[in-house]
Formats: sequence, structure tokens, C-alpha cells
Amino acid sequence: MPICKIINKNNLHRVWETPANIHQNSANSQRASRKFPEDFLFGTSSSAYQIEGGWNKDGKGISIWDVATHMDPSPVLDGSSGDVAADSYHLYKRDVEMMKELGLDFYRFSISWPRILPSGFSNEINQAGINYYNNLIDEMLANGISPLLTIYHWDLPHNLQKLGGWVNPIIIDYFTDYAEVLFDNFGDRVKCWITINEPQQICVGGYGSSMLAPLLNMTGIGEYLCSKNLLLAHAKAYRLYDEKYRKKQNGLIGISINGYWYEPATDSIDDKKATLDTIQFDWGQYAHPIFSKEGDYPYELKRKVYAKSAEQGFKRSRLPKLSKSEIEFIKGSSDFFGLNAYTTTLVYRNASLEGMYAVPSYLDDLGAGFTTDDSWPQGASVWLKEVPCGLTKILLEISKRYDNPPIYITENGWSTFGGLVDDDRIRYLRNYLDAVLDAIEAGSNVKLYTYWSLMDNFEWLSGYSEKFGLYEVDFADPNRTRTPRKSSFIYREIIRTKTLDFDYEPENFTGGNI
Ligand code: NOJ
Repeated sequence: MPICKIINKNNLHRVWETPANIHQNSANSQRASRKFPEDFLFGTSSSAYQIEGGWNKDGKGISIWDVATHMDPSPVLDGSSGDVAADSYHLYKRDVEMMKELGLDFYRFSISWPRILPSGFSNEINQAGINYYNNLIDEMLANGISPLLTIYHWDLPHNLQKLGGWVNPIIIDYFTDYAEVLFDNFGDRVKCWITINEPQQICVGGYGSSMLAPLLNMTGIGEYLCSKNLLLAHAKAYRLYDEKYRKKQNGLIGISINGYWYEPATDSIDDKKATLDTIQFDWGQYAHPIFSKEGDYPYELKRKVYAKSAEQGFKRSRLPKLSKSEIEFIKGSSDFFGLNAYTTTLVYRNASLEGMYAVPSYLDDLGAGFTTDDSWPQGASVWLKEVPCGLTKILLEISKRYDNPPIYITENGWSTFGGLVDDDRIRYLRNYLDAVLDAIEAGSNVKLYTYWSLMDNFEWLSGYSEKFGLYEVDFADPNRTRTPRKSSFIYREIIRTKTLDFDYEPENFTGGNI
């Protein structure tokens, strides 16, 4: 049964005008197997702060996450930190063994900026940090796994935050210096790079609210300053690679943007307009300047923030302008569209929003409210609902809006509260892969899929309470023992056969070794 009947190649417009036909928990066994294209690749994903530990080992500097998690009182739900995490700083060989067990084509990981540049600046390089990543990369390559390296996954050196972090334009140069150290040291073996993971989450989460470090909570100002600097930093690193390294190293480089799918809560014009505005504020803010033909911020974003700023007596728009040359510099600065996609949200705009948001604020600028459908299966993370059809829709919307770029799904995954028999993760994984195949059949250029995450890890301000791993990690055990969940066996079979077989059951699954 197709999840989204409404999708076809000629009807990529306003896909949400037909209500989503959500596919839920249907008996998997009634569904026919489906094949992935021969050249389709599978991987898993992680990030440095979330798995490495070794927070002060061998000359590593301090990051904004070290600072946030050591605050008293702790902003983390369970009071935990990434000080040890899954201890991948010591257990990377076991990690690679797990990648091998799964039969991954590639593994996405990130570099800890302060492990390589303890002060944040490139005048002093920490050789122990370089060695660690050299060992990890070499171990992966020796086992036939390609590295997909994220340059920045949220652990900014604390020194740079003292200077303002992503709201100080000086970050553009320092980020590029850091990227250059990575191209120099790892570019002989790393052929696929992601500059920055999830710009919107960095800016809104860290500068416009206190959902992520550095917990700045300056909405209406902070996230927009961050946005411009981040786009320019990304573009500068891209241009550096393109001009100085690509010929010699022969790799690809792009950005990973988190894309929620948004559906109007009702058929009203206001809800539909609010939905389009939300897309442009949330992921269009980053995708449009990089991937659209005309470049620059989306019109809806510029107009709304400008109008609100003027109304509120600001001398200029709180969203800084991109100059003509900046627009050109950013436009086209990604070899692929890296997409992190997990879930769907319903959007509305009506009188109930009046007085709901602080003024000024990002949400007041946007003027939209959010809700979900009670029938959508709920993950352990509050924000995570299973809506596979939303993945098909966002893939097709990206294809339509940005001239069918190659799309790399750099994250997708499901959280539980633990346990080795994770049938709900299996259901999510299969339904979302089914949704990817629907999008490919409708013409979307999806090249690879990355499951988040290889193993349980530090889920930011939720600590260790939410588990995304194909492998369970025992955080109470000093050895941080990793055990494959049932979903590992399912994913391994999908990778081995390049086939989505809804009937496959691992033989004699006992939660033991793979
Ligand atoms: C987004 C982030 O990139 C990653 O760090 C996080 O753990 C997952 N999604 C799940 O929330």
C-alpha cells in the first residue's frame, strides 16, 4: 500500500493540499518487498560530543557543551554530560567493528573542533586530536567503510563563544581556518564533507532560545545574526575546498539542513499561508540562499522580519541583509542537499496566536502555531512523531524547489526509552525507507540514507534518557558495552540485499551478538 497516493512526478506542487494519508502500523507482512537502486548507499551517523567522551583528555580544549553541561544547576534533564558519553575516544575500534557488522557503506561522524584546536584558533594544533581521527579514519578504511565527515556538529570552542560565537562575523574566518586544518590533515582519505550540521538548530536553539548551548536565549535578534554568519562561514569553507583542495583531493562538500515537514492544520487559506511561511523561516532560511536559482533569503522571511522590526521601532530589520556579493558567494555552495529528516508538524494561524509569543521574537515574526495529530505514533523524544509520508513530501518539495539536487539523507531515526527488542524502531525504519523509495520513484534524486544513530548517545539537553541507537550502550558499565538491538539485524539485512523486505525476521534473536 503506497503511503502517499497523492504524490506523483507531475504534481509536486502544494503536495499538502490533499490531507496526508498517514501510514500507521499496518501489518508489515502484507506489503511487497521493494528494491533500492544498485548505487544507493547506506550508513549511520553520530557526532563527536554525543559519543566521544574524553572531554579533557590529551590536550583537548573546552567547548560550549562542556561549559553548559558543567553548569550548576545543570540544564540537562538527567543532570548528565558528555564527559565520558559512549567513550568512543577509547572504543573507536569497537565502533568500527559494529559498522562492519552492519555492513555499512559509510559512517558519518564529526570532529570536535576543540580536540583539534584547543584554543579555537589554528595557530596551535593538538597532535593527539589529529592522531585520534587519523586512527578512526584508517580503521574505517581498513574495514571498507567510507568516512563522511561533519566539520561542525555543535561543539564550538568556548574561547570563540567568549567572543560571541556565531553572532560575531569573525567566526567566518576562524571556521574556515579550522576547516582548512581538516582538509590538510584528512582530505587525502576523506572524500565527502559536511560543513555544518543543522544551521537552524544551532541558531534558534543556541542563540534564539536556550534549547542548545550556548543557551543565549536572545530571540528576535540572536538567531538572525547567527544565520548570516553561519551561511557565510559555510560558503567560505566550501569555496576554499572548491578552489584549493578539490582538484587534488577529488571530494564532495555540502551542508546538512534539518527539515521538518509542515502541513496546514486545516484547509483554511491562513493555515496554508502560515505553513508556507514556516517552511521559509525554518529550513528555507538556509536552503534558499544556497540552493535556489536567485539566492538570498526567502522573500517571506525578509518581508515579515522587516515589517515587524519597523513596527517595533527598530532602525533596521533584525534580519541582517545579504549584500549582492554575499548572495553570489553563498549561492550554489553545496554539492548536494544534506537533509536531516525525522518528523512532521501541523501549522495554523488564527486569532488564538494573539499575545502568544514574546515581542520581538522569531515566533512572533513568523506568526504561526504548531500542533500534531494524536494518531501519529510518538517516539521517546517529545518532538518525534512517526509520519513517513512527510519524508516523501519534503524530499519532493526540495526536488521541486531547488531543481532536483542530489539529496543525501544525513540523518533519520527513532528514539525509545531503551530495550533490545525495538519493534517500534523497526516499524519506523521500514516505513521511512518505504517513503524514500516513494520519493525516488516520483523523481527525487536521493542518493543515500543515514540512520541516526549507530549507538545510544548523549541527546543534548535530554541527556541519556532518549535512545536512538541501533546498538544499545550500557552507560552504567565503565566499559560502555555495546549490544545490537533487533533493529541492527533488520538494517543489516536491508543493506545486504538492498531490499526492503517487510517480512524479514532475524533468526533466533536473543539480543546477543550479531
Ligand atoms: C539532530 C542532531 O543532528 C543530532 O545531534 C541529534 O541527536 C538528532 N537529530 C536527534 O535529535
